[in-house]
Amino acid sequence: MARRILVTSALPYANGAIHLGHLVEYIQTDIWVRFQKMRGHEVHYVCADDTHGTPIMLRAEQEGVTPQQLIARVFGEHTRDFAGFHVGFDNYYSTDSAENRAYCEDIYAQLEREGLIARRPVEQFYDPVKEMFLPDRYIKGRCPKCGAADQYGDACEVCGSAYAPTDLGDPYSVVSGARPVRRSSEHFFFRLSDPRCQRFLREWTRSGTLQPEAANKMDEWFAAGLQDWDISRDPPYFGFPIPGTGGQKFFYVWLDAPVGYFASFRNHCDKLAAAGTPLDADAFLRPGGGTEMVHFIGKDILYFHALFWPAMLQYAGYRTPSGIYAHGFLTVNGEKMSKSRGTFITAESYLALGLNPEWLRYYYAAKLNATMEDIDLNLDDFVARVNADLVGKYVNIASRAAGFIHKHFDGRLEPAADRARFAGEFPGLISAGDMAAELFERREFGKALRLIMLGAEAVNQFVDRHQPWALAKAAATDAAKRAELLHVCSSALNAFRLLTLFLKPVLPRLAAEVEDFLGIAPLAWADAGTVLPGGHRIREYRHLIGRLERGQVDALVEANRESMAAPPSQGRHAEHQVHAAAKGAAAPAAHAAPPAAADGKISIDDFAKVDLRVARIVRAEAVEGAEKLVRLTLDIGTETRTVFAGIKSAYDPAQLEGRFTVMVANLAPRKMRFGTSEGMVLAAAGDGPGLYLIGPDAGAVPGMRVK
Ligand code: MSP
Ligand code: ZN
Repeated sequence: MARRILVTSALPYANGAIHLGHLVEYIQTDIWVRFQKMRGHEVHYVCADDTHGTPIMLRAEQEGVTPQQLIARVFGEHTRDFAGFHVGFDNYYSTDSAENRAYCEDIYAQLEREGLIARRPVEQFYDPVKEMFLPDRYIKGRCPKCGAADQYGDACEVCGSAYAPTDLGDPYSVVSGARPVRRSSEHFFFRLSDPRCQRFLREWTRSGTLQPEAANKMDEWFAAGLQDWDISRDPPYFGFPIPGTGGQKFFYVWLDAPVGYFASFRNHCDKLAAAGTPLDADAFLRPGGGTEMVHFIGKDILYFHALFWPAMLQYAGYRTPSGIYAHGFLTVNGEKMSKSRGTFITAESYLALGLNPEWLRYYYAAKLNATMEDIDLNLDDFVARVNADLVGKYVNIASRAAGFIHKHFDGRLEPAADRARFAGEFPGLISAGDMAAELFERREFGKALRLIMLGAEAVNQFVDRHQPWALAKAAATDAAKRAELLHVCSSALNAFRLLTLFLKPVLPRLAAEVEDFLGIAPLAWADAGTVLPGGHRIREYRHLIGRLERGQVDALVEANRESMAAPPSQGRHAEHQVHAAAKGAAAPAAHAAPPAAADGKISIDDFAKVDLRVARIVRAEAVEGAEKLVRLTLDIGTETRTVFAGIKSAYDPAQLEGRFTVMVANLAPRKMRFGTSEGMVLAAAGDGPGLYLIGPDAGAVPGMRVK
């Protein structure tokens, strides 16, 4: 019986580019969705941009646009990148939508009716200059445990301890540099500590919805005790106002984000209705509809999806998820993605350099399984695997067989299709159909591909054994050899068709080209039980997929080696990585020669190329072995940069800490003996001695553009 499944991938934040880490998830989900559709099931795959919250609000401000303008631009970039990797959403939407607001308000009203919303004051850090409460990541200070400077408000990157931002020594606001003050405000809570929620979640955890590792995590969380969840934020906040608060409280972004799954699905249903093929949304969103709802997510957001989300849904009268499939994180060459190493690779750059998206889809699939283990993109292995499997084993079959069929048989296969004989020749391939299906179903993609590649090897051995090239030589004079040639090539092409069918969830584009080459209708899983009809005519073989050259991968890494012309990345995941960014050049600008133009003048466009930013000097240290240099740690709002500046003659490093200056943020990287310099600061100098650091007027905040 056909299943009816609503499938989602996590909603990417609308303030950063899609990168190869994200793609693990969207490719994984897409493969599963395509597989289910090929099985004849009804699947609706929806997603959206996650648009609300403080980082997006501040990012827009920094770019000098409205949040709506920012999210509209990013929407275009995200949908372009996903399409480029053949991620086939049935609908892609935005959490900043009327549908989402309506669902949020409804869920909130139901929870309130159930007595599951509490209000109580919370004391938090407040930025008196920016006039806003500061999320933990926007406060820095000294680690209360180890004393390390410039640590985020939630955890120390030096000693690894976690704490509250109020524990920090000498805290300052990353937004304005001001010293935050403590201030109390009323917050709204979802009462997860309520015995009903506890009971429900314990039961739900055992219902088989979660992976075993995820269920274990849940048990840990239960053991630690479930805390009420703070779901409100004070203005200024980009999000939905909480009804009845007169615009004084907003829903926290993580409240409205998963609800965005519903909003996107609702929007999908409305579009279908407008097209005359209505779909009942409630059959998927309310209990008892006989449908499934499956969420693919990264392991980092399990907490939100396995605790808050099901509990919210349960007590607001909606259905709960039937599956939550968490995957691990992407590493590149065994390490965390890194901008300085060039392994923080954007989807856009991959496509722009002309790399085939199906190479990556294939490689990820080969590495994926149903667990939360991290998956590694090893660049050498990537090249080797793609070439060995896709080019060497799979496509090779078609190129070997098709030529003879055209040259000797006018493009026609043998006149009598004989499925039994074919099954006898490739028993492994026939049984692989059911086994691969089961593996795809269980998200054991790596195992499925190994099985399929074993099949491809068997087909190549079959061709080697029968030596069609030798048969072809004898065919002109020997009718039996001619018949054998036709049979061998027909069988090989039938096998190729089956392999294509099995690979189609992973390689949809290539499969479409093969369908065209074989002159057949789009393959569905049921076609695994058939062979091509007798006398079937195929088209001329044409090149199906190219080899991946090592140089292409090197170019990709090179292109992604941090180019600071790009605005600093934000988002939870990126924030940690920017520290490693390698950017270059030391010494004050005052000594630089003007650019060589005919008349010595530059255009406004030339000037605009220089990305000048207000920076706060969070640390200044003398550099051992370098008389003139000071190592500056600069805060430019969303990230920290290290810059070596030749200002030691004029400044005592200790006096520089806390000062504001201006830096060139998009200077090419420069490796120095003491480390990599990630930009340069501006200072004035005359012919004589004396060096004067440039500073902005009071009120300027780190990250502001100087223009
Ligand atoms: N906006 C939230 C999700 C809200 S869902 C209601 C978010 N966005 S994200 O852009 O940071 O990440 C989107 C998805 O991509 C998440 O599932 C996340 O785990 C996944 N990944 C982001 N970086 C990743 C890797 N480096 N590796 C694998 N997956 C990663 O979280
Ligand atoms: Zn510490």
